[in-house]
Amino acid sequence: MTPSPRIVYVNGTYLPLEEAKIPVMDRGFLFGDGIYEVSAVLHGRTIDNLPHLERLDRSLGEIAIKNPHSINEWIAIQDELIARNGLAEGLIYIEVTRGVYERDFTCPPDIAPTVVMFTQAKPFRDNPLAKTGAAIITLPDLRWKRRDIKSTALLAQVLAKQAAKAAGVAETWMVEDGHVTEGASSTAFIVTRAGEIVTRELSTSILPGVTRRTLMKIAANLQMKVVERAFTVDEAMNAAEIFFTSASTIAMPVVTIDGKTVGGGTPGPVVAKLREMYFEEVENS
Ligand code: PDD
Repeated sequence: MTPSPRIVYVNGTYLPLEEAKIPVMDRGFLFGDGIYEVSAVLHGRTIDNLPHLERLDRSLGEIAIKNPHSINEWIAIQDELIARNGLAEGLIYIEVTRGVYERDFTCPPDIAPTVVMFTQAKPFRDNPLAKTGAAIITLPDLRWKRRDIKSTALLAQVLAKQAAKAAGVAETWMVEDGHVTEGASSTAFIVTRAGEIVTRELSTSILPGVTRRTLMKIAANLQMKVVERAFTVDEAMNAAEIFFTSASTIAMPVVTIDGKTVGGGTPGPVVAKLREMYFEEVENS
């Protein structure tokens, strides 16, 4: 059987990945001057997608790139790309850069943004790691000060993820002023021994996670107490449960931090319940 080519989207055209080209002078390539979003796809359709497209619009606005598409246009392109790739479960990626211009830190405000989109097949519904729990490490947060913007300039996260990989663990939690900011590509949560779900309050220090928001709503509906405040690594080490959330992991229990067993060494009931309810909601919506 000949494998069908992977189809990507570049500026209005669907084409095989091998044929897709981005100009050398694209500012996304030269400066990391762009915004991205990642939505999950389950059973061939996007889940929890609207808040991702709203966050895309907000991030673009914050760095003065004109959003080239309406929400409905984005959804139509996403659906078409999912269909063309026959994607059942995985991720859909959107990147919008400021566009192409001779290399210069500044450029005219009206150059046309570059849009690139692709899908990635990646089963996450029945991720075996969610049953055993993940290991993480902690490292200083080296990022810039506008982490609420989903910028494609991800060097600090790349280094944090490479360190995680070298340590043989799934994620790095980044620490600043003695407190956890967030994961390299996820939101950080603990459940205290008193049963409170704790995650950092929204600010320019962290990305406003879409999965964070949805799981907080689910927790509130289950009468679970959610507190938004910063916490220390020590608190996490002594918490009843530890987990992280993102579009690609949903809710992932953590069982070791920096090589030390935490949360009793097994995934706890709160994260298991939130994960279960999340899939129940998205699968029945
Ligand atoms: N990352 N914090 C950071 C720094 C992230 O990069 C992400 C997501 C999150 C979780 O956000 P959400 O729940 O909206 O996915 C938090 C994506 C998945 C990525 O970079 O691939």
